[in-house]
Amino acid sequence: MRSLLSGKATCNSHGQDSSYFLGWQEYEKNPYDQTRNPQGIIQMGLAENQLSFDLLESWLSKNPDVAGFKRNGESIFRELALFQDYHGLPEFKKALVQFMEEIRGNKVSFDPDKIVLTAGATSANETLIFCLAEAGDAILIPTPYYPGFDRDLKWRTGAEIVPIHCTSSNGFKITACALQQAYQEARNRNLKVKGVLVTNPSNPLGTTMTRPELDLLMDFIVEKQIHLVSDEIYSGTVFSSPNYTSIMEVLSKYEKAEVLDRVHVVYSLSKDLGLPGFRVGAIYSNNDTIVAAATKMSSFGLVSSQTQYFLSALLSDKKFTKKYISENKKRLKNRHASLVSGLHNAGISCLESNAGLFCWVDMRHLLSSTTFEAEMELWKKIVYDVKLNISPGLSCHCSEPGWFRVCFANMTEETLKVAIRRIKAFVESTSRGPDKAISGQRCANVSSRKKPFSKWVFRLPFQDREAGER
Ligand SMILES: Cc1ncc(COP(=O)(O)O)c(C=O)c1O
Repeated sequence: MRSLLSGKATCNSHGQDSSYFLGWQEYEKNPYDQTRNPQGIIQMGLAENQLSFDLLESWLSKNPDVAGFKRNGESIFRELALFQDYHGLPEFKKALVQFMEEIRGNKVSFDPDKIVLTAGATSANETLIFCLAEAGDAILIPTPYYPGFDRDLKWRTGAEIVPIHCTSSNGFKITACALQQAYQEARNRNLKVKGVLVTNPSNPLGTTMTRPELDLLMDFIVEKQIHLVSDEIYSGTVFSSPNYTSIMEVLSKYEKAEVLDRVHVVYSLSKDLGLPGFRVGAIYSNNDTIVAAATKMSSFGLVSSQTQYFLSALLSDKKFTKKYISENKKRLKNRHASLVSGLHNAGISCLESNAGLFCWVDMRHLLSSTTFEAEMELWKKIVYDVKLNISPGLSCHCSEPGWFRVCFANMTEETLKVAIRRIKAFVESTSRGPDKAISGQRCANVSSRKKPFSKWVFRLPFQDREAGER
């Protein structure tokens, strides 16, 4: 039967069997609930922002016409039901670019005609890479990176990702040497380098890129004559200093230069507004050919007209967006501080960060050896015994074992406290001896279903196993 399917459908370059997604599956089998399932797994592997829903709900309750598909009291139901133009609703594109400008402190401006609407950043990234690369081409990405990129950038486009290895020695910053090495590695593999893709602020690091890092990237893409994609999906989550610098700000230095056509921004409302289910994303590019091709391609994943209508009303309310942005940042900052201090009390430190919905947590001291196998062993204990789903660094292609991404904005403060209590108890019991640690936790979690480690190693995707053997 397999032979009747396409090679693309049956190959595993989707990366969806990585430990990142396997952790979600385990969570779904036994999800934590304060009253119904207090021994369940707490989901800390999901970068969702649920901290400011009340603000959105309160706006909606004050604007019932929007929910009822009315404009100035008149029904626009028919108009919306029939609208399917891939150029999008002009009023929505205008409101979206203004929101993107506001998030960047109004230091840059976006032209609504250079924006392509897509069903989330997932679709934006795939569409963009589809326009830039194909089989035999490579995109360089700094590690650690968002595990979904393996699916989004490689699977259907046929392009390869070549890692730019960043390390803890300098807080995982990009260096000229790491860039050059990645470029060379691609060449050694007979791949044509088409571009660099960065996530700023970073998922999973929760850090913003510095101006020298952005300048270094620009110099690199100018020298190599390649593209730069900046995924800025977390741009509205920067909750403390240093201030955020978008690649758009750096571009002002390159007025009229041809490199302007090779820099592209990806955005989405999944994180900043906490609306991943609405599927609203965008590509922003100065390159007319890319905008034209991507607009046609967006037919494969349009944003529905109701969603565009609802969000144009919401985002045009400047008083609301201003309040939302600042209040959301305040809440993220507090939540981040709770996680960092809770982990600190448990003897665990995090990479210093100022953005995002997660912390990049250093658990190297809890590994039985400095290997990815030990990282997976620790991760398995944390998922099955401590009952927390966190994401191992290996799934983000980190080159050093012992780092984990821990999300903090997809749960209540109470649930976070439970999670911190669990991890603290685990660390304390580990320091009394590893065997005690595991048996102690198991007693507390009667429903624990232990799986043999070998099964997990077997289920890991090729790249994970390869890295595990490094
Ligand atoms: C860096 C990055 N890009 C893209 C996405 C996909 O976002 P969307 O829900 O808008 O498709 C995510 C989601 O976690 C992400 O972290």
